[in-house]
Amino acid sequence: MPELKKKIKFIIDRFSMIYEFWRDYCNYRRWNYNNPKVVTRAAQESKILRQTHMIEKGMSLSEPRKGFGQQKIAVLFEMMDQYLKMGYPSDGMPFQDAIIVLNAYVDMQKGLGYENAAMVEKLKTYDTYRIDGLTAGIKYDTRANLMSNIDKPFPEFFYSRHSMRQFESKSLIIEDVEKAIKIAQKAPTACNRQASKVYLYKDKATNDALGELIAGNTGFQQEVPNYLVVTADVSAFYDTFERNQVYVEAGLFSMALVEALHYYGIGSCILQNGEYYKKNKKFKEICKNIPENERIILFVATGYYKNEFSYAMSLRKNVEDVFIVK
Ligand SMILES: Cc1cc2nc3c(=O)[nH]c(=O)nc-3n(C[C@H](O)[C@H](O)[C@H](O)COP(=O)(O)O)c2cc1C
Repeated sequence: MPELKKKIKFIIDRFSMIYEFWRDYCNYRRWNYNNPKVVTRAAQESKILRQTHMIEKGMSLSEPRKGFGQQKIAVLFEMMDQYLKMGYPSDGMPFQDAIIVLNAYVDMQKGLGYENAAMVEKLKTYDTYRIDGLTAGIKYDTRANLMSNIDKPFPEFFYSRHSMRQFESKSLIIEDVEKAIKIAQKAPTACNRQASKVYLYKDKATNDALGELIAGNTGFQQEVPNYLVVTADVSAFYDTFERNQVYVEAGLFSMALVEALHYYGIGSCILQNGEYYKKNKKFKEICKNIPENERIILFVATGYYKNEFSYAMSLRKNVEDVFIVK
């Protein structure tokens, strides 16, 4: 291609990139659920699911705190009332999940010697909406039971992985992680470019520093022996239409990774990377060897399963809600 043509194409590409990122920005600004204009059922349900999950997460820790989460529960009640006021159906899975988890919370807290009478009264007002037969909240399990699933047919194996927020204290054996990563590498990638990488830090100081900065590990930070840092290489992609490929690739890779870790007896919990420029810079400072062209997509809290533990059940939506056939 003659030089001038190349230059013109380069300039057009740059403008196209700005335009597409601008459209992304407009779309996200319009539809993120913090925008008061977003009053869809899906948005209200997402709010309820997230708030409920904070409670079940707190319940799934090694030592749940007496009376934890009262402020969060008050907010959840507001969300539930708002949801009903908007005329959305009370038999929706997120609404039911909230009722069941909150009831489980009350039972658990009673066991710890805590009761907030006003909260219990408020919760009772939702009894009329409760559908029998659903279970949610936390489940107590054993390592032996969990691992009995690893050689079972795929559905049983797949259902047996849960995000873990309790771990044995010993550090991961590098060879175990390597075996899991080798399996995760079988995840599909765009044109086989394999842009994902995993960083593991053997020293306690780096793991502690990561634990301090990561936002989603509150309450179990002190129990995580190792964090995996999953990155994807931006320079594996070439055009504006590939701008989100790093997230797709690392997402698929991470899914395969947590399943493979589970297969080798390693519990895990994916942790979101709060995508702020300044915070990312701090993460990169801690993870000294991650080059600029790699983006940190997420973290994985990892450790061997304890003999006995509990986990959040994280109830799933009905399949009809996510599989639409027309
Ligand atoms: C992208 C992503 C980010 C997540 N971030 C967090 C987090 O910050 N803290 C946390 O405790 N769990 C986090 N999780 C775990 C989810 O809470 C968990 O996957 C969900 O509740 C479903 O439960 P399950 O993995 O046990 O099936 C994250 C999961 C994903 C996929």
